[in-house]
Amino acid sequence: MKYTLQFSLSKKSITYDPNRNSFFSILDLADKAGVDIRRGCRSGHCGTCAVPLLKGKVEHIFGDHIDNDSPSSILTCSFKAKSDLIIEA
Ligand code: FES
Repeated sequence: MKYTLQFSLSKKSITYDPNRNSFFSILDLADKAGVDIRRGCRSGHCGTCAVPLLKGKVEHIFGDHIDNDSPSSILTCSFKAKSDLIIEA
């Protein structure tokens, strides 16, 4: 199974295979797609990489529990796709 990440502002997308790339964050995939997302710590602390999640489900990259797998915004350095996604970037 593969997921597609769409970046609504840049009009770019990338396909992601969670079985082969299980530790790729959404920020990693944005870099691969050539989409520039501001970042700082890359460890979930500073909040700089937060973007609106327009559609789809996410999970924490290291499996930490989250109450809502479809929040209104996500820290792209700390989450990975759990479905097809559209983010505002
Ligand atoms: S880059 Fe700091 S929280 Fe993502």
